[in-house]
Amino acid sequence: MVVLNARLSALCALLLAAIADAQSTSELSSAVSASSSGASASEVVSSIVTSVASSASASASSATSSGVTSVASVSTSSSTSSGVTSASVSASVSAAPSGSAATTGPPLESTHITIPISKYPFSSFPVPSASPVPGVYPSTSPKSPPPPGSRLIPDFGPAWKAAHARAKRLISGWSLEQKVATTTGTGYGNGLCVGNIPPIADFPGLCLQDAPLGVRGTDFVTVFPTGLSAAATWQRALIRARGLAIGQEFKGKGVEVALGPMMNLGRIAQGGRNWEGFGADPFLSGEAAYETILGMQAAGVQACAKHYINDEQEHFRMQESSNVDDRTEHEIYFHPFLRSVQAGVTSVMCSYNLINGTYACENDYVLNELLKNQAGFQGYVMTDWGAHHSTMSAVAGMDMSMPGDIVLGDPSSGSWWGANLTAFVQNGSIAESRIDDMAERIVASWYLLDQDQNYPEVSFNAFFPNDPATNGHIDVQSDHYKIVREIGAAGSVLLKNTNSALPLKKPRSVALIGNDAGPSSRGPNGYTYAGGDDGILGVGWGSGSGLFPYLISPLEAIQARVRKDSSGSQVSWFLNNWDLAGAQATALDQDVALVFVNADSGEGFLTVDGNEGDRKNLTLWQNADNLIAAIAEVNRNTIVIAHSVGPAIVEPWIDNPNVTAVVWAGVPGQEAGNSITDVLYGDVNPSGRLPYTMAKRPEDYGAQLITGGEVDDILRIDYTEGLNIDYRHFDANNIDPRFEFGFGLSYTTFSYAGLHISPITHADSTSASLEAAWAAGKASPADEGAVAALWLHRPAFEVTFTVKNTGAVAGTEIAQLYLHFPSSAGEPPSVLRGFEDIQVPAHGSAQGKITLSRYDLSVWDVDAKGWRKPSGEFTFSIGASSRDFRLKGTVPL
Ligand code: BGC
Repeated sequence: MVVLNARLSALCALLLAAIADAQSTSELSSAVSASSSGASASEVVSSIVTSVASSASASASSATSSGVTSVASVSTSSSTSSGVTSASVSASVSAAPSGSAATTGPPLESTHITIPISKYPFSSFPVPSASPVPGVYPSTSPKSPPPPGSRLIPDFGPAWKAAHARAKRLISGWSLEQKVATTTGTGYGNGLCVGNIPPIADFPGLCLQDAPLGVRGTDFVTVFPTGLSAAATWQRALIRARGLAIGQEFKGKGVEVALGPMMNLGRIAQGGRNWEGFGADPFLSGEAAYETILGMQAAGVQACAKHYINDEQEHFRMQESSNVDDRTEHEIYFHPFLRSVQAGVTSVMCSYNLINGTYACENDYVLNELLKNQAGFQGYVMTDWGAHHSTMSAVAGMDMSMPGDIVLGDPSSGSWWGANLTAFVQNGSIAESRIDDMAERIVASWYLLDQDQNYPEVSFNAFFPNDPATNGHIDVQSDHYKIVREIGAAGSVLLKNTNSALPLKKPRSVALIGNDAGPSSRGPNGYTYAGGDDGILGVGWGSGSGLFPYLISPLEAIQARVRKDSSGSQVSWFLNNWDLAGAQATALDQDVALVFVNADSGEGFLTVDGNEGDRKNLTLWQNADNLIAAIAEVNRNTIVIAHSVGPAIVEPWIDNPNVTAVVWAGVPGQEAGNSITDVLYGDVNPSGRLPYTMAKRPEDYGAQLITGGEVDDILRIDYTEGLNIDYRHFDANNIDPRFEFGFGLSYTTFSYAGLHISPITHADSTSASLEAAWAAGKASPADEGAVAALWLHRPAFEVTFTVKNTGAVAGTEIAQLYLHFPSSAGEPPSVLRGFEDIQVPAHGSAQGKITLSRYDLSVWDVDAKGWRKPSGEFTFSIGASSRDFRLKGTVPL
């Protein structure tokens, strides 16, 4: 425990927070938006850097309070000789003017940021509460996880323990400076990777590199389907395979830490980075995060669960406070991170935003209490790039500063850590045991995945990918294109199919209409960070994108498919979305018109077509609605294919009888054209399901994008909808969506029967008393690691049922289990608590099996700080979507 003089602590807190405020990088977006077309990567980097540098220096000396935040008059004196910038400081602080709330514009955060010294007792390395149980909770390493969908809960506790012991030994001989060096990046652009930890004695350092869908910033890599497309498959085996292949490519390039997966929840339909994540439901997102991490780390690369937490929109992402109640935090936003911890994730990236008035990266509650204490996380927390705001964040639970410099790319800006952290230990502000803890967490994570054994050297330079001296151009793609193609197809959602318009049956004439059908006019990588919507949409934009080795468009794939059919088909195309007459002329009299449209979004440092990261509205892009209407006017077999980063409003044309079919094809990576062709021609029977709700009107969504704000403002984003994210809001308020969460059609039909539920008894009695207490309505204990405990998460009930394929083609049904809590619980009407992909031959049947744990049947008790079974009757439904329930049952509690 750190003991710190209270006055010094308060002064430091205010001062450092003030400097942090001054470092606001909101100008980043505007500066970079100017360079969104045609600029080279290094140009953009320097543009970011200049912008941040000028922002920091301008506001570091600005003493004014906007009347919104309460920080004022800060002066710093930097000691240049030692490189210490903030150890000796003078500050004067004046209170915010009373009644300072803005009279117009968005709601603003009035609580000022503070950095409390941890009030939570965190021991260095919480250990799991139970010992391994063979056949249930096997002791294993993240390098050998149980297979996808397994009921085994892997116990990584012993592996962590061994890794920590080795780390402790390694760092025991290190000086304070050496230990600090493990925690502080070398500075943006100073090293081969987007983040770099320097070599220290026998420890070779770390390369940290984006992105969640593959290695960014280098060549000869695969651009995998986005997280959103992977989640839309609802297939754990595919999600695991994607994670494994991604992990292999990172390792092949010599990256120790892959900066993904991303698991923010798509609270806002327009949220710019939703496509990087796994959709708008915590359970689905949690399963996808779990499988992805197990896959990545099995390959030997460290995964990073990001962005922790409540980072749900791009607008003002560095200047917004997400205000979230504790129950919502636990049940909704924290869940995917808990699943990540259970998957043995080694690192977590804290986000740019504030949570309840405190920056995520110095938020004692979310870092020390939620993540390290309650979930028992034994790895390390790194900052998002530039999300570090103070030296004292070390005592709030942060472990690694990324990329290390205060102003990205400006070594003269110094570092919050590095020499400052050393000085804070030397002057008694921070206990050295905390530094030991940080270094040990980092080094243990490296040992956990055997990265000390023949790990490849970094063979690329993310900042200068064409520099011959530092780029080995090593090909790590293997045959990963196969999994890309498969997931692209399996993640495509068939939304409408009348008159059996699909699959296509060797049509004699096919018209391909729309820009999204063809290649980009600039080639696959013609826009920096994929910041352009031109041609087939394979990825969204920003740091989550990748450099395509190639990008198959529908135009290429469909032509190849037509030739394979050799049935005398003809293909014509028209790729201009604005020349409606030209498009109509092409579609006229064709057997089928395939209209390809899209909607794009990305990270807020780039603006594309007026969309500053977040989408500015929910309509499809590039005149799509008019294009579809025009084609449907001349062709009675118009089929719409949308590649989209999320939901869009389809009301203008969805009921048009000439629009005979609609496929929502996600954002599928480099095999986009092949994946959709497989679905259109019936080589793959679609089984994808929507990982979010598609509303009829934007205002039907329960949470909206917050815009506006002045340069110094901290926007207030109140999560007033609480537990009612996405479909839960529609259900709770009886709002009809256009297509509900979990919806998706097939080329066949399925019926359900034979529901059975039974308790699972187990031979070991290790947790009998905990289980009995839970059954009696007591909250789970508030011990370290308690929310990840075996007894809470092991299967407690088994639900079985039969799915019959009532059609003539084989297909995969995604059976979903929705729990209906007793009314005493105050839960939404239906919550997803299980799903399974069930492959059924034509006219055949197969059994579905889904388990429920005690955790699944609990709510977070804020007062008791534990998971508790509410009283009353629990019912559940099994069905094909969140509104298509086929079987109903009661949990025998
Ligand atoms: C993004 C992170 C990314 C990091 C490094 C940040 O702007 O939010 O997701 O990993 O940059 O590129």
